[in-house]
Amino acid sequence: DTVYLNGSFMPLAQATVPVLDRGFIFGDGVYEVIPVYSGHPFRLEEHLARLAMNLEAVRIRNPLVITAWHDACSRVIAANARLSDQSLYIQVTRGVAPRDQAFPRPDVTPTVLIMSMPLVTPGPELVESGVSAITALDIRWQRCNIKATSLLANVLLRQEAVDHGVAETLMLREGYLTEGSSSNVFIVKKGVLQAPPKSQYMLPGITYDVVLELAQAHGLPFDIAPVSEAQLRAADEIWLTSSTKEVLAVVTLDGAKVNDGKPGPVFRRMHALYQAFKN
Ligand code: PDD
Repeated sequence: DTVYLNGSFMPLAQATVPVLDRGFIFGDGVYEVIPVYSGHPFRLEEHLARLAMNLEAVRIRNPLVITAWHDACSRVIAANARLSDQSLYIQVTRGVAPRDQAFPRPDVTPTVLIMSMPLVTPGPELVESGVSAITALDIRWQRCNIKATSLLANVLLRQEAVDHGVAETLMLREGYLTEGSSSNVFIVKKGVLQAPPKSQYMLPGITYDVVLELAQAHGLPFDIAPVSEAQLRAADEIWLTSSTKEVLAVVTLDGAKVNDGKPGPVFRRMHALYQAFKN
């Protein structure tokens, strides 16, 4: 369980952060989750680019140059090579300072953590059966494109799913689908893949991009446009996408079957394309 913390490599149990870290006090930080298949990080450049964008968005100085990010990630992955697949977690907070909402002055050093966790992607049974989901009002703020560590709304929304015994909560804002509590959402109608356009109301998912690239490359028709609640409920297929869920079919929504209640043909095609592509 070797982690990287502020330039040093150490066992997880020894990695500690002062209580005045602004990540602890305010959730003042950003993060990434990167899947690692057989030691190879998937779409690392894209994840690091999104991290850099997020740091800029919240005005935290990027603490490492790109080569240093690559180096630190490689070393954490190598140190955890006993895990066949890993989920690499990067978190950067604004740093440690006396509690005050405004940025610390003078500037403090950002806190950087990189750790590895086992990557648990949906197994064959889950891919075959699909999962259930519920809907809820999107109670989050208006900067959902930032992958911030302040995730209280997501925590509450995801727990609603757990309380209902389902896998995910799909969020609706002013009658339109935004995303899941920790995933992006696609629908299929009459063979056409549809997803909401990137906006301040959803995270620009790396997996979302991969799915659209695969659709493009393999001639699957798609349409990036707002998805209304009515379109969501009338969809032939609903999918979740994320770095850890990959592509997963939703077969019941708020207790109602999605089409015949089984993962659909377009899902099966995309799932196969994704599996082939990630390796
Ligand atoms: N979640 N939307 C939200 C709100 C998310 O938290 C995530 C990812 C996604 C999908 O993004 P990507 O395809 O880049 O993983 C969309 C990660 C996995 C997490 O918080 O664990």
